[in-house]
Amino acid sequence: MEHSRILLDYYDNLAIHYDENRFGNTYGQYIHQQEVKILTQILPSITTHNILDLGCGTGRLMAFANYGLDISPAMIQEAQAKFPNKYFSVGHAIKNDFKSHFFHTIFSFHVLMHQNQQETATILSEAYRLLKTGGQFIFDFPSDKRRKLVNHKAQNWHAANQFSLEQIKALTPTQWDFKQSYGLLFLPIHRVPKRFRSLLIPLDNILCQSFLQEYASYLIVVLTKK
Ligand SMILES: C[S@@+](CC[C@H](N)C(=O)[O-])C[C@H]1O[C@@H](n2cnc3c(N)ncnc32)[C@H](O)[C@@H]1O
Repeated sequence: MEHSRILLDYYDNLAIHYDENRFGNTYGQYIHQQEVKILTQILPSITTHNILDLGCGTGRLMAFANYGLDISPAMIQEAQAKFPNKYFSVGHAIKNDFKSHFFHTIFSFHVLMHQNQQETATILSEAYRLLKTGGQFIFDFPSDKRRKLVNHKAQNWHAANQFSLEQIKALTPTQWDFKQSYGLLFLPIHRVPKRFRSLLIPLDNILCQSFLQEYASYLIVVLTKK
């Protein structure tokens, strides 16, 4: 079966349980908190900018965007129910119907981990088409260096994609400026008893911004369109 069809069927079936299944536990909640903190710091206002959540799923981060796109109609249905006044469309990150140079910012979380390296390069080209010059593309992916360190082997297609920062920079050096990167989840905070977490979170934040950043579980990068 074609890869996109597998993804679509998987998320269509998961849609009504997605929020609870992925973000109803301490692991999901910690990741959510960290992502919200970073987006709050770097995103422009949605009242004056066109912001797309690419692969918006059930709309977990749609408070930061005014447009959402997803391959799964059932995920879009959940998102639209939460945000009836925002614009949603069912479509593909690789090629979609949005106008060129329309968005100031595009962000995409937990989406590139599902694509292969060629698809990732194509998604970067499509994001480049959609963005205004100087616009930013913010996305996350599992860290290649962390996975090598812990000898992680992807079980199936689900999170089979991983990159180092060098690999991301090498994908399209002529189109993008590499602006910033963040690490996410260096220490296994979600596994630590709640009473110790407040002690470890500041340390996790320091490690995620240090020279060891690439050994965090996930990396978030900000590219700007040249
Ligand atoms: C793990 S969910 C993440 C949803 C949301 N971004 C979040 O962080 O909660 C992955 C989402 O990406 C969507 N997706 C995967 N590949 C896609 C593609 N090529 N184009 C558009 N959406 C895609 C899936 O349908 C699913 O809703």
